Amino acid sequence: MKIFIDSGDTNEIREAQSMGLVDGVTTNPSLTAKTGKPFKQLILEICEIVDGPISAEVVSLKADEMIKEGKDIASWHKNIIVKVPLIPEGLKAVREFTAMGIKTNVTLCFNANQALLAAKAGATYVSPFVGRLDDIGSDGMQLIRDIRQIFDNYAIETQILTASARTPIHFMEAAKIGSDVITAPWSVLQAIIKHPLTDSGLKKFLEDWEKSKK
Ligand code: G3P
Repeated sequence: MKIFIDSGDTNEIREAQSMGLVDGVTTNPSLTAKTGKPFKQLILEICEIVDGPISAEVVSLKADEMIKEGKDIASWHKNIIVKVPLIPEGLKAVREFTAMGIKTNVTLCFNANQALLAAKAGATYVSPFVGRLDDIGSDGMQLIRDIRQIFDNYAIETQILTASARTPIHFMEAAKIGSDVITAPWSVLQAIIKHPLTDSGLKKFLEDWEKSKK
């Protein structure tokens, strides 16, 4: 499973990258707005840190405007993936992007039928939002299972990008199900690295080492 970091914070992206954790980066308008940096400058900074797919989202709502916006964004750097919302106009835009050879990440996916339509439009990635489904009492990870089954039934090449991951359980389940990619915030990636037995075990080893030197 490839690991993307879901962030616009270049410090945490750099930190995660230095541990060899990240294969790519996803952003969304909420994350990029939080940084206060101009969008293009931020995306190009991220492209300098991580040599992998970097999702940058269009904000237009009409297909022709999304296409214009997405073509511009894609021209900034070879690694940019144009992120498009899963709405009818978005699917039209994805179809055009696919014909142009521009890679896409279809976002805000909340059911398996939507995922299938994104794949039919030619999406490179589809992003089901598991945490937001859990928030409303649905089972986010079941959606990943359903999409995996459907995509495998038809050898669909669109990659499942588990998004809105909030916990280490989301991470582990995504890997078990066979999600192609997971994107997670830095807080979740840090939680995965840490284990209290690792910390207490290391503390004891170092204490014993100090004693043996005496
Ligand atoms: O990649 C999508 C993700 O940013 C949404 O996460 O936690 O806002 O639901 P969240």
